[in-house]
Amino acid sequence: MAGAEETGGLSRRKFVTGMLAVLGGTITAVIGLPAVGYLVAPALKRSPTDVWVPLGPVESIPIDQPTLFTFSRAERIGWETTATSYGMYVLRSPDERYRVLSNVCTHLACRVVWKDDPQDYTCPCHDGHFAKDGHVLSGPPPRPLQAVEHKVEEGILYVHLVEA
Ligand code: FES
Repeated sequence: MAGAEETGGLSRRKFVTGMLAVLGGTITAVIGLPAVGYLVAPALKRSPTDVWVPLGPVESIPIDQPTLFTFSRAERIGWETTATSYGMYVLRSPDERYRVLSNVCTHLACRVVWKDDPQDYTCPCHDGHFAKDGHVLSGPPPRPLQAVEHKVEEGILYVHLVEA
């Protein structure tokens, strides 16, 4: 009895092998493509870069006294999560206007501290001094403290963060 190969036809073995290859390829595509997407997608996405963060009710902020608010935010880039801490001084005026200043020194990014005496923000690293409104009084800082965009909604003070 002559085999299919010998006759130029398709043997049962080749047919089964071919069907297994097609089935294997299909299963690999069905399972593999979503898995590849799952693995690659985070690397292509970034966390939101534009957020409003609530600091708290304005009624709890003392008037005419720089008040420090601190918080941290976790940012996920790809598979890596990074926590960033923020510090902001809020100055509430008697007529309900607000000034929000970053507590990051504009010289080399140390954190400034408000001192009631002599009424300024002092940078402990190189003795930089900033006035209550954030402008430079003395020392090496090249620029005023960064003002932070903010808004009040329903009695809550929010700050605008633009994360890199
Ligand atoms: S980092 Fe603030 S004065 Fe240098």
